[in-house]
Amino acid sequence: MSVTEQPAPAPGREPGGDAAADRLRDRISADSLTTRRDYLRIVATVSGGLAIGGVGVAAGILHRHGDSETLPEAKKVADVMAPGESVAFRFPGDEDRALAVRLTDGSLVGYSAVCTHLACAVLWREDRGPDGELYCPCHEGVFDARTGEVTAGPPPRPLPRIFLTEQADGSVWAIATARSGEQAKDALCRQFGDSRRGAAQRLGGPPGGPATESRRTLETYSPQPAPP
Ligand code: FES
Repeated sequence: MSVTEQPAPAPGREPGGDAAADRLRDRISADSLTTRRDYLRIVATVSGGLAIGGVGVAAGILHRHGDSETLPEAKKVADVMAPGESVAFRFPGDEDRALAVRLTDGSLVGYSAVCTHLACAVLWREDRGPDGELYCPCHEGVFDARTGEVTAGPPPRPLPRIFLTEQADGSVWAIATARSGEQAKDALCRQFGDSRRGAAQRLGGPPGGPATESRRTLETYSPQPAPP
């Protein structure tokens, strides 16, 4: 065969088929390389955004429950709650995930359902001990169902509390929030102080104790006679 002669195509192939196939292979591998790069870029961007958001929540920089200084509008959680029952709801805002639980001894507890680690959703697990537990499946974070304190895993702080009240007809309402680790009395005085001075004073709201901005605000109120 002379040097100018082309090899005969393999049976079933067109003349020049190998070159065309090679070009096609090159294009496919270049495309897939681009696609892989794009994919990795997207994953890195999304994960970075989530990590930054989670760290922001964990550090208390971004919005979370209990940030409001004013009393939120009361919200009905359930018509009735039986022992061992939990209800997921939103409070104080429509974006704020929350959880109400009726413990087996009848106590009602409410918490933000946003994990204090990286803001995953916290779930209620009834079958863990006498009170059950609040569990974050992202990194095995566990919170005490009665107090909201961290009992296992990486969450750095307790779950922010949501105050619930039960009416005579059995309905359960969310009425106020606390910041993570904030004493109930301080949280209620802080929020009631803006709109229900009598209630805040009956709760033993400030003056007294460590000064905070909200306490100073309360101290400037003119005392109101408590309703009979
Ligand atoms: Fe809840 Fe990490 S986000 S344990």
